[in-house]
Amino acid sequence: MNEQKDQKVLDNLKVLFEQVFKIERSESYRDIFREVYGDDYPEDANPDSFVTLTDLYTIAKSLNVEPGKTILDLGCGRGGPGLWIARETRTNYVGIDLSENAINQAIHRSVDFKIEGTSKFQVGDMYSLNFPENSFDGALSVDVISFIPNPLAVFKEAARILRSKAYFVFTTWEIKKSRVLNSYRSYLRDTGFSIISYGETPDWKKRQSKVYQKTLELKKELIKDMGRDGAFSYIMEAKKLLPTINDSKRILAVAMKM
Ligand SMILES: C[S@@+](CC[C@H](N)C(=O)[O-])C[C@H]1O[C@@H](n2cnc3c(N)ncnc32)[C@H](O)[C@@H]1O
Repeated sequence: MNEQKDQKVLDNLKVLFEQVFKIERSESYRDIFREVYGDDYPEDANPDSFVTLTDLYTIAKSLNVEPGKTILDLGCGRGGPGLWIARETRTNYVGIDLSENAINQAIHRSVDFKIEGTSKFQVGDMYSLNFPENSFDGALSVDVISFIPNPLAVFKEAARILRSKAYFVFTTWEIKKSRVLNSYRSYLRDTGFSIISYGETPDWKKRQSKVYQKTLELKKELIKDMGRDGAFSYIMEAKKLLPTINDSKRILAVAMKM
């Protein structure tokens, strides 16, 4: 029964993200982030998330991976943040995502980053990766895990495909469930990770709230620029999450596979 429910959530997510990734991220929506983040907006990564330049440097450093090794990006989307990190760390890169539209754009982006020869992409589900055990030297995931109905399954998969002593670095939101925030610490420990660091990302709440406020203020312009379908998910996200932002916490976790 639960598996059926999880599958339904995943199917709906796939439909939603295919819709989001049908068109390029619009300049009018990016302008909101440029204004709110200032110098901390990662212009060339062009993320589909709330990741900042500071977060990207932290993730790259925390992966603790040598040039020439291979990293996996879980829920890579259109690839920007993961490709940025692969270029920074000079590692081979594999990105997987549910959305075919996102993966097609990620392939083009690897050319812009000039690392197409060392980057690979796959449409796939983080629940069931078709990679052998102990096959990656690091893994990352940017703003994905809170969408997943069964995060424990994802941590199990990450532990399976990582080599011993490899790092898993991710950003996500803890969300209030039954009045407490759903910490990912116990999932990490239960799946064989040692937690190296776990904490809120700098200034996330102020920035995310401002992005949502601006999205609602500029609703008409966004619809004009992206069309109703294109702007829909950004406007709905802002409407739904702005009033409940205090019931969540955006964290960056660094964990090592034991
Ligand atoms: C907010 S976007 C972040 C994309 C990218 N990491 C970035 O920072 O630009 C979330 C991504 O997670 C992907 N996703 C959600 N559930 C997934 C799953 N079960 N397996 C693989 N990808 C998934 C979506 O398709 C989407 O691309």
